[in-house]
Amino acid sequence: MPSRPLIAVTRWIPDEAVKILAEAGEVRVSPADRPLGPGELREFTAGASAIVGMLHDRVDGALADAAGPGLRIVANVAVGHDNIDVPALAGRGVVVTNTPGVLTDATADLTFGLILSLTRRLGEGERLVRAREPWSFHLGFLLGSGLQGKTLGIVGLGQIGRAVARRAAAFGMRIVYTGRKPAPSEVESALAAEFVPFPELLAGADLVSLHCPLTAETRHLVDAAALRAMKPGAYLVNTTRGPVVDESALADALEAGEIAGAALDVFEREPSVEERLLARDDVVLTPHLGSATVETRTAMAVLAARNVVSVLAGNDPLTEVRP
Ligand code: DGY
Repeated sequence: MPSRPLIAVTRWIPDEAVKILAEAGEVRVSPADRPLGPGELREFTAGASAIVGMLHDRVDGALADAAGPGLRIVANVAVGHDNIDVPALAGRGVVVTNTPGVLTDATADLTFGLILSLTRRLGEGERLVRAREPWSFHLGFLLGSGLQGKTLGIVGLGQIGRAVARRAAAFGMRIVYTGRKPAPSEVESALAAEFVPFPELLAGADLVSLHCPLTAETRHLVDAAALRAMKPGAYLVNTTRGPVVDESALADALEAGEIAGAALDVFEREPSVEERLLARDDVVLTPHLGSATVETRTAMAVLAARNVVSVLAGNDPLTEVRP
């Protein structure tokens, strides 16, 4: 009897997804509770027909070659796929898939959690209480900034950007957005969102929230010049990919008082964080938690598993990333 295809899973995934994968082959899950180094990843995926990978795994042509000619699919358990050289894999006949849709609400919820934490100074307040600092209610104590009537600038009105816009509307915010091109007019009118060029968004938004993918075009999109162009007193929120923001320029802008604060769920050199940001009270920092709910992470892993099963059975993938 021919041996079953090897499915290499580079980090823990929920059992539900392992069970689905087991229909299609022999599942090998990395026992390491950390990202595998490049050499370890090569060794771990050698001979695999499918790789189920995480956003911290660099998957390129060399890794595919090391896996061998039997590799058919790389299923990223993330919607972002900047960690994968998609054209290199396509050139070798390897399908790449991601997990769009299932993490939209969780990520939009977290974005709004960060917006509220930042503008209402929740982290500062919490630290103060835990430090047993003396405090008493008074009218000028730890004042934040309200959202009603303020302008939210969304960079990238994809599924997550739209879900953030819906939440912002419930808070009484005005919505402007930018991207490579305007969204269809029915989307704009349903969200009451107005397309503006990036410089206009920076100049007019009280809060800028980033939802574009990381590409060569968006790397350091928010650099020193963009930060200088933001409205004084505005806030920046990043829940997409760290390198969209130049973290050192962000620290400079905060030190110079050019903007009021920032909330980051993702980091330029993740998991490291620019040292100067760590000490600042006007910065909220969370460890890449956008999709971190039990329901969402399970749905992501299950979708990745279904992609693998489909491709190994000779069918089309469900959510392919095309080069
Ligand atoms: C993604 O899916 O790209 C998120 O960053 C992690 O859920």
